[in-house]
Amino acid sequence: MSTRPRTPAPGAPAPGKLPITELLEMKARRQPIVMITAYDAPSARLADAAGADVILVGDSAAMTVLGHDSTVPATMEEMLVLTRAATRGARRPLIVADMPFGSFQVSDEAAVTNAIRFVKDAGADAVKLEGAGTTLSRVHAIVGAGVPVMGHVGLTPQSATALGGFKAQGRTADKALRLYEDAVALESAGCFSLVLEAVPAPVATRITERLSIPTIGIGAGAGTDGQVLVWHDVLGLYDGRAPRFVKQYAHLAREIQAAVEAYASDVREHRFPEEVHTYAMPDEERQEFEAMLDAAGHQHPLAG
Ligand code: KIV
Repeated sequence: MSTRPRTPAPGAPAPGKLPITELLEMKARRQPIVMITAYDAPSARLADAAGADVILVGDSAAMTVLGHDSTVPATMEEMLVLTRAATRGARRPLIVADMPFGSFQVSDEAAVTNAIRFVKDAGADAVKLEGAGTTLSRVHAIVGAGVPVMGHVGLTPQSATALGGFKAQGRTADKALRLYEDAVALESAGCFSLVLEAVPAPVATRITERLSIPTIGIGAGAGTDGQVLVWHDVLGLYDGRAPRFVKQYAHLAREIQAAVEAYASDVREHRFPEEVHTYAMPDEERQEFEAMLDAAGHQHPLAG
């Protein structure tokens, strides 16, 4: 009789899941890592089918799906719901849940508790934390509790106000050096990977060469180990000017609006629903139904 366990041991990747260590091997092979955000099951399923390696349930959801002007208002409860939905949709990609503002700033203990919720309650494979400084001790604590952590430096949207807005970071030698040292410190604290956002390409390249963990760039040039873009930016799912580093691969906002306009016009012009969209009923059943209505005293509204 087989003694093989029927369910994965705690901490073991689910069948078909990209092992986190594979990202290191991809870096070694110089095989670019593809990461994209997704915030629900259908988009995670499509990202998986399209071959994404990592899905980030980003707190960019606060802006892209929840309608806020910044990422700051995203709550733990909202991020947990979105992460659960994404994990139901995707099988192979690693799912990284973004820890929202307020969920890790207060203390190492709170950071560990919230990180564990993403893994235990929402099925995430890892969490992402913005910043260095006090974030280093949070990373250390969360990794110590067994949860893999992706770091994020450069433009960190949760502290955009303190950084002077949504602007590129590390554009002077001093600031580039600070960024470089933060990246090295995040690797030492235990991050398995690091997002570099809105950073000059030469700085991102130097950091990538220095670190043994993979870097994932967004607005950081072609020298990082992987790239990440936001789902809504890739698909052109909203109006407004996208940042310089976005490449839009579709214009779905236009297509969606045109489709909904066509539907509205079909309804208003009585072109929808047609016979093919309608359930029929055998004639004898319909006649019997009418007879039953008559017997029960329900007059046909058009009669007399
Ligand atoms: O929240 C997010 O989508 C992100 C990416 C832009 C890296 O942090």
